[in-house]
Order: sequence, then structure tokens, then C-alpha cells
Amino acid sequence: MPDPRHLLDQLHHRQALAEKGGGAERIAQQHMKGKLTARERLDLLLDEGSFVELDRFVTHRSTDFGLDQQVVPGDGVVTGYGRVDGRLVYVFSQDFTVFGGSLSEAHAEKICKVMDLALRNGAPMVGLNDSGGARIQEGVASLGGYADIFLRNTLASGVVPQISAVLGPCAGGAVYSPAITDFIFMVRGVSYMFVTGPNVVKTVTHEEVSFDELGGADTHGGTSGVAHFVHDSEPECIGAIRELLGFLPLNNLADPPERPTADPVDRRDEALLDLIPDSPNKPYDMHAVIGRVVDEGGFLEVHGGYAENILTGFARLGGRAVGIVANQPAVLAGVLDISASIKAARFIRFCDCFNLPVVTFVDVPGFLPGVAQEHGGIIKHGAKLLFAYCEATVPKLTVITRKAYGGAYDVMSSKHIRGDVNLAWPSAEIAVMGPKGAVEILFKDEIARAEDPAAATSRLIEEYTDKFAHPYTAAARGYIDDVIDPRDTRPRLIDALRTLRSKRERNPPKKHGNIPL
Ligand code: HXC
Repeated sequence: MPDPRHLLDQLHHRQALAEKGGGAERIAQQHMKGKLTARERLDLLLDEGSFVELDRFVTHRSTDFGLDQQVVPGDGVVTGYGRVDGRLVYVFSQDFTVFGGSLSEAHAEKICKVMDLALRNGAPMVGLNDSGGARIQEGVASLGGYADIFLRNTLASGVVPQISAVLGPCAGGAVYSPAITDFIFMVRGVSYMFVTGPNVVKTVTHEEVSFDELGGADTHGGTSGVAHFVHDSEPECIGAIRELLGFLPLNNLADPPERPTADPVDRRDEALLDLIPDSPNKPYDMHAVIGRVVDEGGFLEVHGGYAENILTGFARLGGRAVGIVANQPAVLAGVLDISASIKAARFIRFCDCFNLPVVTFVDVPGFLPGVAQEHGGIIKHGAKLLFAYCEATVPKLTVITRKAYGGAYDVMSSKHIRGDVNLAWPSAEIAVMGPKGAVEILFKDEIARAEDPAAATSRLIEEYTDKFAHPYTAAARGYIDDVIDPRDTRPRLIDALRTLRSKRERNPPKKHGNIPL
């Protein structure tokens, strides 16, 4: 029988070897690039001392290109599970110091193992990506490994929350794993994602573009909308992942965590009375409305730099996590366009998967007119938003603060598409279109015949405004459950949420719907 202490020495030696990853020199290089190592990232992500590593002794099985001489335990990815605020989460963290974090067959198997565990045990999956892509020496075995991951991402979608941070390169087909997950985080100056890099782009299209312009954090947070969160540093980014997890249930069968709040549930807010400007054409910032209604003003904005004419994000009402969707009158008058529709539709579907009530603040003049929008497919993209609201069975609360015009009125969580509680402020204008547009169509001939067309137009606008630019016609039909004092918005929403705690609604049985993609 060998000496057990000697066996332990051997174990500790092997453990230490795995923890060294690519070695001190490569770790120093990683730091010189302003990046943390795979293990340092996990230290920031998980509650202290909670990480349990799996598969640290896994190695690749390749012999080509001298790989049999380069074997590093763990094979370039650290996997396992831990806790965030005491709640279970499965993780993988790619180690760029080992073969550039490239994905071998064994590396993929490690990731698949934790994904399978996350799915089976019903806990979120967080992937920290930092990889040169497919392990070139392994060829198709590596490609197969990616496909195994994509399949698991897809099967886990809607069952457990999946979060990706891209903390280094993420190129080629490798981008599609984060792309299938629910949220992508990126860090300025550290992360980049593209299907083909600047050199290939130059060869094929003769466009010259830097790594950062093509696929850096701001490009994806602003222009493409691929990234949901953009941060200035890795610690800030990883802190935000922890914050996001705090809003999410562990899985689709669980409720989101509740957090006690010092903010009184019956708090009225005086400032809400004066937020809407005198003129219907003047903008105001919908962030101010949200901030004054939700617990302690806390709003974790999702996609904050993309399609800013609509706001999406998480907040709490009376301690209960909710998803918020809000038109933003301060940007493009809050109009719905292609990007806004896609952004909000995906967010609503996430909330619906994970039992998060959707609270919608409406101030929308309609869909954006224009050749670019029509040719870009506003019909099918706007339909995504409509579809997402229609199919959602989580509690849906709506507050119309000002405009709710035309098709956009229907789309924005109206009563007709199963809004549970639909409230309006007295400043709400619920109509087919704004008074000016309506008068110019309805009274075209009368205005043309008038002695003073401008005066006639103003008179007619005034008449139309008195008749239609208010919430009472909609309220008379029960399309609005109540017209409320804006100061009561918070208590009314919290009370409505309470009534919906045991809401049960099912869509007809089917394999899945066919959302217009
Ligand atoms: C094997 C790799 C690797 C890879 C990097 N390395 N990428 N080894 N397979 N894909 C190794 C390098 O050889 C190097 O080893 C070490 O990692 C660090 O890489 P550097 O190049 O020194 O780092 P850096 O200068 O920071 O450049 C990072 C990089 C570059 C931009 C990612 O390494 C790169 O272009 N790599 C190849 C990217 C690529 O084409 N991947 C395949 C894409 S196709 P040594 O020992 O020299 O230090 C793909 C398909 C997925 O991924 C398909 C899914 C469907």
C-alpha cells in the first residue's frame, strides 16, 4: 500500500499544474494585454470559496503537429459550478494562456458536461469566452465540438438562463454559441467578435477596418446590437453579470428571487405629475418615469446603447423582479422601428420564458415611416414585437403615459392582446393617429376650401383633440382598466402584480409557434 501522504503530494502537484494553465510567462502576457486570467475571472464572478472545479485533469488526445509534447491539464478551459449570492450557477472560463483558449474536442466535452449539468439540475450557465476559435491542429474534431455546444445552447434556451461574456477574441463560427445565449457582455478594448476578421474582409470586399471597428464592444453594443451590455473593465463587467443573475430565476420552473426593499409599496411620487411636457411634441426622458416608479430607482438597462428609442431592462416592484419595456420619447419621439422592434421582442420573450412579469410604459407615435424601413422589413420585424407580446403569458401590466397611436397602440401590450392590467394617465392620447395627421386626412377638402386654411386646420385640430386625444374613449370600452393619478403609478402596479401572482394562462398546445423571423 503506497503512503497516502505521498499520494496526496502527487494530487497536489497535479492540481497545481492544472492551476498554472499556460504558465507564468503566458499569464504575464495576458495581464500585459489588460486581461484577467480564466481563474481570476471566476474568482470575481463567484461567491468567495464557492467554486467547485470539475475536469481539471482532462487533457486533449491529439498527437499531430507535436501536440503530444504539449499537454496541459484542463486543456484551456476551467469548468465547474459555484454560487452567486448563494445561488447555484454553472460556469466555464476559457484560458487563453493554453493554446490561445482554442477549442479542442476535449475542451468542448468539458463545456458540454457543465451545460448538461446546468440543464439537468436547473441552474443558469455562465460562459466566459476568450478563445482563438477551433483548435486548428484538431480540424474537424474541433468543429464537431462547437456543434455539440451549439446544440446544447439551443436545447437549454428557455429552460435555464444562459449568459455569455466575451473577454477576448471570439471569431468565426465560435460566435454562434454566445449568439444563441440570452445575454452577451463585452468589455471595451478587450473583446471582439466577428464571423470573419479584418484581413478576410479586406480580401473579399476590399474594406479596411480595424478589429475594434469591425467587432469591438461598442460596435456590438451600439451598431449591431449583438451585445447587450458593454463595460469599461472586466471587474465591472463581471460585477454586472452578478447583478443580472440577481433578477433571474434559476430555471423556467422557478420564480425570480424576491428581495426585500426599504422603498414603501404605497409610495406616491409627486414628481410624476409634472414629467409630461405641456406640448405633445416635446420630448421627456422615460428613464425618469421608470426611476420614480420602481424600487429605489434601480433599473438594470439591457441593450442601453442600441435602439435607444425603446428601453428594456430589469427592475423590482415591491421586491419582485420585473422586466420593463418602455417607449423613449427622448429618442426619435419613441417611434417603433426595425431595431426597436427586434430589441424589445427578444427581451419580452426572455421574460416570458423565465416568469418575469412585463411592465410596459407607452408613449409611442407609431411605426417609423420610410423607404429604408419598409425595404428593411419593418413589416416582419414589427410583427416580431407584436407576436412576442401576444404569445407572452406572464403577467402583463401597461401604463400609457401619453401617445398610443395606431398599430403601435395595439402592439404595446394592449388589452386586446391579453394585457392583464392596462392603466392610463390623464395625459394619455389613445387614437388612430395624432390630431394633426387625422385632420389633414379627414378634412382635406374642407381645409382647401377654407378662406383661412391655417385657422381652419387649428380649429379642426382643437375639435379632434377634444374628441379623441384623451384616454376616456378607450376607457369607455374597457380597453383601459382605469385612468389613474400619475402619482399613484407605483402603488397601483405593485397592487396589480399581487393580484397576478397566481395568474394561470396557457397557449394552445403546439410544438412551437412560428414567429416571423
Ligand atoms: C490553436 C491557437 C489558436 C487556434 C491561437 N492559438 N489560436 N492554437 N488553434 N485556433 C495559439 C497560438 O498559436 C499561440 O501559441 C497562442 O495561442 C497565443 O496566440 P497568439 O497568436 O500569440 O495571440 P494573439 O496575438 O493575442 O492573437 C490572438 C488571435 C490569433 C487573434 C486569436 O491567435 C489568431 O488569429 N488565431 C487563429 C484564429 C483562427 O483562425 N481560429 C480558427 C477560426 S475558425 P504559441 O504557442 O505560439 O504562443 C473557427 C471555426 C469555428 O473557429 C467553427 C464553429 C462552427
